[in-house]
Amino acid sequence: MKDRNKTLIRLNLLMPIVAAIVIGFVAYSSPSDGVTLATWQESNWNVPAKAKEMKNPVAGDSEALETGKKLFKTWCVMCHGETGRGDGRVAANLNPRPTDLSKVVKEQTDGELFWKISKGKLPMPAFEVNLEEKDRWTLVTFIRSGL
Ligand code: HEC
Repeated sequence: MKDRNKTLIRLNLLMPIVAAIVIGFVAYSSPSDGVTLATWQESNWNVPAKAKEMKNPVAGDSEALETGKKLFKTWCVMCHGETGRGDGRVAANLNPRPTDLSKVVKEQTDGELFWKISKGKLPMPAFEVNLEEKDRWTLVTFIRSGL
């Protein structure tokens, strides 16, 4: 028992040191100019073909437009801005900058947008963590409506 406690105490003392080494390593290996990071992100926002074909259960739904507006205000405006142009309050500090949603909705399917909103891509969070599937579709309907 005594020995076990000693080991635990030693581990407790070691943890901050281990954490410092890990944080130091991550900070050191992330490029400060963001070039490598951006490349990594780009290669990781590959939407699977199946996801692109997913059907939006609330497409064109007028209630979704109302709810979507509220959801967008709560979760998206800070980065994408009131009209989705990518000029939210914190946008200037982000790398890459938030996308102008009015442009991408023309080029992409609902399924594609749904997938991106669900999975996120740094610095955009993965909304499948905080939002129900229906809410994510509702957001797709809302941003497709032109905001
Ligand atoms: C922390 C800031 C932030 C928040 C909050 C955020 N986004 Fe984003 N979003 C970004 C950034 C940055 C990008 C561009 C990422 C990239 O291209 O690497 C992006 C990209 C997107 C794209 C993909 C556009 C494309 O290029 O195809 C969609 C769609 C999108 N966001 C929708 C949303 C929605 C809907 C919400 C709210 C639920 C939201 N975002 C919340 C920062 C944010």
